[in-house]
Amino acid sequence: MNNTRRNGDYLNQLELYKEIAQTLNRGFDLSVTLHEVLSQVLQITGFTSGWIFLENQEGKMELAADCRLPPALSEEDKASMCSEDCYCIERYKDGRLKTALNVVECKRLEEAIEKRKDTYGLTHHASVALRSGNEFFGILNIADAGELFFGKAELQQLEAIALQIGNTIKRILLTEHQRMDAIRQERIRLSSDLHDSVNQLLFSINLLAKSGQYMSDIPSLTDAMADIQMIAQKAQLEMKEIIWRLRKQGLEKDLVSHLEHYAGLLGIRMESEVKGRSALPFEVEHQLLRIGQEAINNVKKHAQTDVVKFSLLFTESEIKMEIKDSGCGFIVTEIAPAYSLGLENMGSRAGILNGECRIISQQGSGTAVSVTIPLKGSGNE
Ligand SMILES: Nc1ncnc2c1ncn2[C@@H]1O[C@H](COP(=O)(O)OP(=O)(O)O)[C@@H](O)[C@H]1O
Ligand SMILES: [Mg+2]
Repeated sequence: MNNTRRNGDYLNQLELYKEIAQTLNRGFDLSVTLHEVLSQVLQITGFTSGWIFLENQEGKMELAADCRLPPALSEEDKASMCSEDCYCIERYKDGRLKTALNVVECKRLEEAIEKRKDTYGLTHHASVALRSGNEFFGILNIADAGELFFGKAELQQLEAIALQIGNTIKRILLTEHQRMDAIRQERIRLSSDLHDSVNQLLFSINLLAKSGQYMSDIPSLTDAMADIQMIAQKAQLEMKEIIWRLRKQGLEKDLVSHLEHYAGLLGIRMESEVKGRSALPFEVEHQLLRIGQEAINNVKKHAQTDVVKFSLLFTESEIKMEIKDSGCGFIVTEIAPAYSLGLENMGSRAGILNGECRIISQQGSGTAVSVTIPLKGSGNE
């Protein structure tokens, strides 16, 4: 316990409160603001350590800030702070913590003490929910060496600060939401403009070059016209893809609709089948989308067919995505590394998620790209 708390240096405390209010008022980056305010909270309360958990979009609690964690909690890249297995989180989730500030035993500290690790003498912590009105964002935890009980004044002080932090979190999240919304709107506007201007111009060049080929008998001129037409067609296809990617960010479609749309742009008919649940974690969806695009692109470029069979299968433990064509097929082992960047990228994208991408192909029968991504216990949930 430091002098500030013991002597109640009133002016000094007011000064620190003002600093906290200023930090919260000017903050626009959530992580920076929480770190800064946490260190000020420790200064004003004289407590030893503090940390903040925030609930992410999937409802999981994540360490958002910490200050002066004891070695037992900070070792191995704060591994013990990553699990949700703690009394405070249990209480928060079943609603008990949401109604009042609590002094709780700490499971993380308990385990660390059992293993005789250095906890700075911390055993309990005060936990208070971070909220704004009826919206809850997470937990502020503050611990003091050797303290099993916290005074009423201290707890009230913490509750007051937690309310201010909660309001700031709400403000920052709202601002971020508005910013993302503005970006989305801008992407949609840009894609519409590109579609109505550059895309239409490319279409006109394409048509003109096509008719130009029949307006002259001079071979060099007709060849040049044919080249222009081909380049314009290619540019148009690429432009379509850019426009689609821009719009994709603005529209909340799922993986299958995105791939169906993408295949449609390339003139490929996609027959899809989905089994199991359909919501995917963002990173998994992102990587599967890119793998799927490459596989469909390969069908368009190399398979000599315009049909692809797509399947997505969810089980408890994994996701399987398969893109299959009955085209010309190829001998996988005969493709030189320098010419298989697309295939390699598919493998690395699956690898990022600890999964694997297998390519099975037979000349004359077609190709299957089969991706398996683990879910449970893999960090992909
Ligand atoms: N679905 C497919 N059908 C037939 N051949 C394919 C298919 N996918 C890939 N290939 C063959 O594998 C090669 C490597 O593919 P990839 O790494 O994607 O490179 P790229 O698309 O640039 O040619 C292709 O050039 C092609 O010969
Ligand atoms: Mg390719």
